[in-house]
Formats: sequence, structure tokens, C-alpha cells
Amino acid sequence: MPAFTASAPGKIILAGEHAVVYGQPALAVPVPGIRTRAVVQGKPGRKSGEVAIQAPAVDLDHVLDELDPEHPIRWVVDLVKKELDIPRLPALNLRINSEIPVGAGLGSSAAVSVAVIRALSAFLGHPLPDEKVSALAYQAEKVHHGNPSGIDNTVITYQQPVLYQKGSPVRIIQIPASFTLIIGDTGKTSLTSETVEAVRQAWKEDPERYEALFDQIGALVGTMQRDLENGDLAGVGQQLTANHRLLQELDVSSPELDRLVEASLDAGALGAKLSGGGRGGNMIALVRAGQQDAVVGSLQEAGAAGILVSVVRGSTED
Ligand code: PMV
Repeated sequence: MPAFTASAPGKIILAGEHAVVYGQPALAVPVPGIRTRAVVQGKPGRKSGEVAIQAPAVDLDHVLDELDPEHPIRWVVDLVKKELDIPRLPALNLRINSEIPVGAGLGSSAAVSVAVIRALSAFLGHPLPDEKVSALAYQAEKVHHGNPSGIDNTVITYQQPVLYQKGSPVRIIQIPASFTLIIGDTGKTSLTSETVEAVRQAWKEDPERYEALFDQIGALVGTMQRDLENGDLAGVGQQLTANHRLLQELDVSSPELDRLVEASLDAGALGAKLSGGGRGGNMIALVRAGQQDAVVGSLQEAGAAGILVSVVRGSTED
């Protein structure tokens, strides 16, 4: 029996996190160098409904029915069953291997959902279109994050740079030429659900101030989109750093994130900011060819726990 495999990339938010939860636009790009893979294989001769799951990255080796119904992987399998109207699965084995670190703002949970939805629906003979994959992954994200904006499942499903705004059709951004992002890890995990909740509390206490900040972030995202489409990297860099300053005002940065951002700027990066929920996790720096080594060195000196170099490919390049 053939195995059905699907993979999904990591992601990084270029601009607009947190404000996107309040209806502002945000920009995100895939990180294709780190991926999650899901493999589904039938087990002929075994009892139908017998579903075994292995996900070594999270120490999972279980029978599906024994998992808590709220377990995110069981949840996503159940979503596919419901979508395809299949009350009982044939006997199968689902294996998930992920290179995407958990709790680092790199989209690990959405990548698991997208890879499982694609592999399982293909195995069942009904590969789902992107729109459906993204919608189901969004349902699964709700189990992880409570009230996600939907940006992670969108960029990871489409695997292209996207402008995302709640309630609007997905917009794929055409980038004329490749550029390089350095992703620096603070080594501190931080739960997105907690930072989103902290911002919500602060917004409730001072809605006027927070809505003004969200508006400024939204405006900056519009400028960055134009800069990206025009290949104006210096402009993109300026917007990145401006976005970091606004995220500091939202109180979602941390001393570690600020240190890595300043270290990148000191080494000549065009711009830098925290990325994702904040208060830990990763930051990004935009560099021109030739600046990469200096910025990587500076991040190492400033204590980055991990560094990843990711190239965002131009739309017309291979
Ligand atoms: O922490 P991440 O990379 O999953 O990003 C979260 C982005 C937020 O805007 C803070 C939350 C959301 O759901 O959009």
C-alpha cells in the first residue's frame, strides 16, 4: 500500500502581529528550510478504526482513540473525518516528523495541522484544495491558541508571502527579487496565547492608546507591502524596525529580543524586529548580500540561542 506524504514549511511574520488580531493587515512569509512532514500509510489486514500516531518531536506514540479528544492531533484528524464525512477511518499509521521548533513563533502547530490534513485527505482519496486546508487548519489552531487571527494557517498553506487581513481574501505578494532574513532565537519559549491575552487586557484598560498603535502598525504594513512589491529593501528594513518600536510600545518585547534586534542593527542589518507573539521566541533581521556574516556574528555575540538564515524567493525566480 503506498504511503501518502505531505509537508508544510515554517513561517515568520514580517509585520503586523498582534494588530492583526484586531483586524489590521499583516505580512508573513514561509520559511521553507524548516518543515513538518506527515506520512499516512494503510495497514491492510488490521481492524478498521485502528489508527496509530507517532510524533517523536513531541514524544507521542499512541493509538488515536486513546488520546484526549482535545489533543490537537486527534482534533485535526477528526476535522478531516468530518469534512470528508468518513465516520470510521481504515486502519492506518500516521507519522509526523517536524524540524520546526515548538513555541518559537515559527508556526509549528499550523504546519503540523496543514501537513496532516493534506496527507490524510490524499490517503482517503479526496485531497483538499488550499482554501479548505487553510480553513480546517484554522479550526485546529483554535485548540492551540484560543483566538488566532488565521495568519499562520494561511501562509503555511499557501507557502508564499501573504498579506493577511481577517475577513478578506488572501492576497499573495509578488516579490521581484529574493532577499535574506536572519532569524535569531532568544532561546526563551513564550506562549502566543499569553501575549495575545496580555495585549487584550491592556487594550481593554486603554482602548484609545492601543487602537492608535494598532492603526500605526496597519499603516506601516501597507507601506511595507508596497516596498516589498517594488523591491525596495531599504524601505522594508525601515518598516521592520519601526514595527519593532511599536511592538515595544505594546509591551510584547523583552530584554533578550531587544538585545538581538539592536545587535543586528549595529552590525548593519537594514532592519530588525521581534516576530510573532513576542516576550521570547524569535526575531528577524533583513540583510543585503554581504551583510549576512557580520549580522550572524553579532547575534551570536549577543547570545542568540539559535540562528537560521532564510531566503525569501522572488516570485519569478526558481
Ligand atoms: O507567535 P506566532 O508566530 O504564532 O504569531 C502570533 C501572531 C499574533 O498576531 C500575535 C497572534 C495571531 O493569532 O495572529
